[in-house]
Amino acid sequence: MSIRPILVTGGAGFIGSNFVLQWIAAEPEPVVNLDKLTYAGNTSNLSAVSGDPRHVFVRADIGDTETVGRLLHQHKPRAVVNFAAESHVDRSIHGPAEFIRTNVVGTFDLLEATRIYWSALPEDERRDFRFVHVSSDEVYGSLGPGDPAFTESSAYAPNSPYAASKAASDHLVRAYHHTYGLPAITTNCSNNYGPFQFPEKLIPLVIHNACAGKPLPVYGDGTNVRDWLYVGDHCAAVRLILRKGRVGETYNIGGRSEKTNLEVVRAVCAILDEIRPDPLIAQRSSLITFVTDRPGHDRRYAMDTRKIESELAWKPRERFGTGLRKTVEWYLDNAKWVDGVTSGDYRKWVATNYASRI
Ligand code: NAD
Ligand code: DAU
Repeated sequence: MSIRPILVTGGAGFIGSNFVLQWIAAEPEPVVNLDKLTYAGNTSNLSAVSGDPRHVFVRADIGDTETVGRLLHQHKPRAVVNFAAESHVDRSIHGPAEFIRTNVVGTFDLLEATRIYWSALPEDERRDFRFVHVSSDEVYGSLGPGDPAFTESSAYAPNSPYAASKAASDHLVRAYHHTYGLPAITTNCSNNYGPFQFPEKLIPLVIHNACAGKPLPVYGDGTNVRDWLYVGDHCAAVRLILRKGRVGETYNIGGRSEKTNLEVVRAVCAILDEIRPDPLIAQRSSLITFVTDRPGHDRRYAMDTRKIESELAWKPRERFGTGLRKTVEWYLDNAKWVDGVTSGDYRKWVATNYASRI
């Protein structure tokens, strides 16, 4: 029997491209990679697999059910892994409509196309099929300083339009499993960092600005807490869930690495001061600038990851200190990539987001 591919959506974005690269390096099955190539998607992330016959890239929208249906019937994947989304909280505050279109309606369209394909498969292939939906810890809302970490049974309480759109998509996935029996699994992960992250997100933005001697914008008082996970560890968790995760379940993924935003920014500055000293700025942390807070800014996220650790024997391999150093080095070594993505839309975004804050 021929080996069947997996269909990855959003595989030209930050986590999706890391996943595709890791998958091609580690797994036997080919990848059909469907991505709309919004501002956040970049085919150069995939240059390492561009000539590989096991990687097929298709530019399309997850909401284009005709194209998705055709791809499913043509390639007969044994799984769909859905990374495609609008992912930036601040953008969801400035313009929520696209988040509803892609994250809610697009996920619905993808589920529907997948259900039609899956229903027509022979019995054994229906049983073995998987739909893995990649979601966020933000669906659970915000924690106080002493609260226990989110578990898989924490109530959903999304606070931003982004988080609400991801929560809605999670509910749709749950309903498709419950009602139609689609063999779906949802993952809820904490903040990722690593190569290929678009420099609108905190860590790459700070690296980019610090190298240019620009202000490092910290929202509010910088004491909001996020749990940081190296992107390769997230990808490994999704691979494991695809292989061994229980259908109908959700799995929390996190780094057990809670940091305040100020700690993160200072850590980036310290690494840069050491490996790329700037004679004009003795300490990059002097560039830290407190700016108006994000509206509705969630105070703290933390993930209880005991389920994936005990059921699937997953745990993060990278520590924050080493992962952050690798990440800073990657951005320094890939200035061309950064230049390529920080034109056009990026400049407009920086002007829109930060002009009103400072
Ligand atoms: P990203 O914004 O870097 O990439 C998203 C990708 O999806 C891009 O390549 C984009 O072109 C594509 N895309 C957007 N709309 C599309 C559409 N309608 N059809 C097809 N493709 C489309 O996002 P990311 O940070 O890589 O996040 C990937 C997934 O992981 C998202 O679902 C996000 O909610 C989730 N997630 C992200 C994090 C994080 O820290 N970045 C943490 C937990 C969960
Ligand atoms: O928790 C998982 C989520 O992590 C994912 O679901 C999202 O897709 C991803 O974007 C990320 O969301 P955050 O809002 O936590 O990430 P961001 O990098 O935008 O911000 C991290 C923290 O840093 C947050 O508390 C806001 C703050 N921040 C961010 C930016 C861009 C600043 O202080 N200054 C900034 O300029």
